[in-house]
Amino acid sequence: IDIDWDTTRGGKGKYPFYMEKEIMEQPDALRATMQSRVVNGKIDLSADGVPDEILKDCERVCVVACGTAMHAGLVAKALVQSKLGMHMNVEYASEFMYSDPVIDEKTLVLAISQSGETIDTLEALKYARKKGAKSVAVINVKGSSIARESDYVMYTVAGPEIAVASTKAYTTQLMALFLLVGRMAKVRGIFDDATEKAYLDSLTKAPDKMQEVLDQKHDIHKIAREMLDAKDAFMIGRGLDYSILLEGALKLKEISYIHTEAYASGELKHGTIALITENTPVVATVTQSKLKEKELSNIREVQSRGASVVVFVKEDFDLADAEYADVFELPAMEDEFMVFPASAALQLLAYYVSMDKGLDVDKPRNLAKVVTVE
Ligand code: G6P
Repeated sequence: IDIDWDTTRGGKGKYPFYMEKEIMEQPDALRATMQSRVVNGKIDLSADGVPDEILKDCERVCVVACGTAMHAGLVAKALVQSKLGMHMNVEYASEFMYSDPVIDEKTLVLAISQSGETIDTLEALKYARKKGAKSVAVINVKGSSIARESDYVMYTVAGPEIAVASTKAYTTQLMALFLLVGRMAKVRGIFDDATEKAYLDSLTKAPDKMQEVLDQKHDIHKIAREMLDAKDAFMIGRGLDYSILLEGALKLKEISYIHTEAYASGELKHGTIALITENTPVVATVTQSKLKEKELSNIREVQSRGASVVVFVKEDFDLADAEYADVFELPAMEDEFMVFPASAALQLLAYYVSMDKGLDVDKPRNLAKVVTVE
């Protein structure tokens, strides 16, 4: 695939920070990442050169990645397990080699990286390939080291990402992974034409649904203003909500310096709920039908300890009569695709907290965009 990055689009344009520009670019970046991979209404990875055989024959799937890219891998894991009924591992690349990973020639390793230069991810990929694994890298920077090391590459078409905190690289990674899993489901005979079509129809709507959130950014800005004085915050959710909150929490902590923990809601009672006191900010996402009732009950638990709860909820869910500090309705999609609009909301939340605290949003302290040390 040939990627034309329009370098004349450099600069922040009308935005005060690159991060906001990059958040706003996401619908286009998602469309671009999808475009060449949907041919005649079907997922087609032939332009990437990814052979169907490796998608069909693998018995295990494993992600190696760091930071935000690893969080994209967690969403892929949920999809692989629910759509393909296959077990999948997601490992921090820095831990991978030291965990005696079970890797063989029937393993498909997905190396996910914006820069394609993260040394831990590169080393983990090399290790897996030495053990005989086949590999597909999901990469943003063309010709980067990880892209060169991998058997096959799917490029995300996010364009240059300048802000240290990753946004459009993450959501385009999600898009590439949704396409990869969709193709796997097809070649493994799990999707028939009709199921593939329904899956693609939903995926095609993701950029528009995300745009709907971006169009309401001022409402999220208002929510962010309530969090400026927080020292600690929690983000709670279940299933896919938990996976995207790990990323939402990373965004908030890295650019606002508020200590933020994402917690699987059901785990709160095993310790963390002790930290919830009067006015502790808690952000909850409620987007998964089968988990909704349990999540609402977890929200009530933290509220009863005085937490100030902001809820990002799928618009067609009924929140009953409970009182929340704030509620933001996310445009509805099929459950698994809710990661797109919900991620945009969490990115904007972190962005506005950082900006209103007067911080350098694009260059948080102690962090680098590309990490080439182990
Ligand atoms: C750094 C960046 C993160 C990024 C991580 C992995 O820590 O600040 O935003 O998620 O590296 O980078 P990669 O380029 O491999 O996606």
